[in-house]
Amino acid sequence: MPDSSSRYHPAVRAQYESFPYPPRNPADELARLLLTEMDALGKVSYYCFQGRLDLRENIRILVAGGGTGDAAIFLAEQLRGHPGEVVYLDISRASMEIAMARARVRKLDNIRWVSGSLLDIPQLDLGCFDYINCSGVLHHLEDPVEGLRVTASALAPRGVLGIMVYAKYGRTGVYHFQELMRLFGGEDTELAEILGVARSLIHSLPNTHTLKCGPIPLTSQKAAELEDADIVDLFLHPQDRAYTVSELYDWLHSCNLELVDFVCSRHLYEPETHVDDSQLLGLIGRLPRPQQQAIAENMGGNLYKHVFYTGKATPRRIDVDDLNNIPYFCDLVPLSAEERRLLQEYVMAAPIGRKCRLHFPRGNSSFEIQITPTTGLFFRFIDGQRTLGKIIKLVQRHARAAGIQRPDLKKEFRQLFRQMSCKHALLLRGRTVPAYKTYAELQAGCKPRRHPEGLAESGGL
Ligand SMILES: C[S@@+](CC[C@H](N)C(=O)[O-])C[C@H]1O[C@@H](n2cnc3c(N)ncnc32)[C@H](O)[C@@H]1O
Repeated sequence: MPDSSSRYHPAVRAQYESFPYPPRNPADELARLLLTEMDALGKVSYYCFQGRLDLRENIRILVAGGGTGDAAIFLAEQLRGHPGEVVYLDISRASMEIAMARARVRKLDNIRWVSGSLLDIPQLDLGCFDYINCSGVLHHLEDPVEGLRVTASALAPRGVLGIMVYAKYGRTGVYHFQELMRLFGGEDTELAEILGVARSLIHSLPNTHTLKCGPIPLTSQKAAELEDADIVDLFLHPQDRAYTVSELYDWLHSCNLELVDFVCSRHLYEPETHVDDSQLLGLIGRLPRPQQQAIAENMGGNLYKHVFYTGKATPRRIDVDDLNNIPYFCDLVPLSAEERRLLQEYVMAAPIGRKCRLHFPRGNSSFEIQITPTTGLFFRFIDGQRTLGKIIKLVQRHARAAGIQRPDLKKEFRQLFRQMSCKHALLLRGRTVPAYKTYAELQAGCKPRRHPEGLAESGGL
């Protein structure tokens, strides 16, 4: 467990030593597995490896600035029973202790723990990585360009980074409130006292403050749920910056990186989400894609974080028309297995021609499916094992038997896939790649196993 002594912001380290983030209780691991938005490996595979990320190979993953362990635990669970490993890196020992305790509860032994700064990656001798998660870290560095450059230097030749950084407009209220806190001075005041002031202010804010009426309003309920670590991270951080889409592209290009895609709130990067006027849409449509996304972000004003994959080159996209690929319903974010079952029942009974808007509480998202005569059949035959070719043959046979006239099934699948994949409810993987684990399989990994006599193993810390 090396401890590189050198490069980090002392106040940032001090904050995360006192307030490990996000606040987590290791005992909760027995009850649930937390999913992190960009780290479902099926999703990484779909966006970045043409659906061919094969966990039977020695996949190496780095979680840079791993905090209290959400991503490291989720990724290590997915690699459980496979040869790959996760390397966790953070400057905060207190955070690492919590992450390690969570791994112990889950009996995970495929995480290597490293205490140190991501700026020291070249000296830490960690090797290179197929996937690097760096979520909520780079915007806290003095020099995010250097931070990104150094982190990306650890990528394997076709490796990719999953990054989350703050987005500017959706955080307007947060910066407004940070300024309010600065008006109180308080450099020499005890943190506990400042926290008290912050709490009182949050509860006294008039409804005209952007934190209350801005793009992401802080409701009284949300305010009451804020833990000290949340307040410190949001409002008292010694160093934090946010990016517009244009700034994001400039940042990536200055590090010779290409954006693969945004993977969270994807519709908010689409001008059609905010604009009805067809003339205006035509005008926007003639602009380069990054500019279209920047316009959508600016018009919506409600993106508060950018979650995306990036790499040294843009990987080729998996071909939706390739009959050898396997479509599968992804039950990680946002669709649970139960929600998918309900959806399937609903779609199979829904009137043809109807547009259904489906809402998923877990991912707090919704999408629309146009029900065609064959939608129900696709739902019936997509089982996560059959190739698209086999599915289409089955749908064709049943459609014919039901008297449905000569449907263009490739086109129908493409449309269904477009509607469902934007929220990652339906994904594709290569034919030779085994299925990625479902939520139930992942969580079963840490459940106490039953002895033959029926006694459960205890699962303490
Ligand atoms: C907001 S927390 C995010 C934690 C985690 N990535 C997550 O998303 O749950 C930021 C983390 O970055 C770590 N950090 C900040 N600067 C760092 C650096 N230079 N090298 C490694 N970790 C750093 C902090 O200690 C903290 O644990």
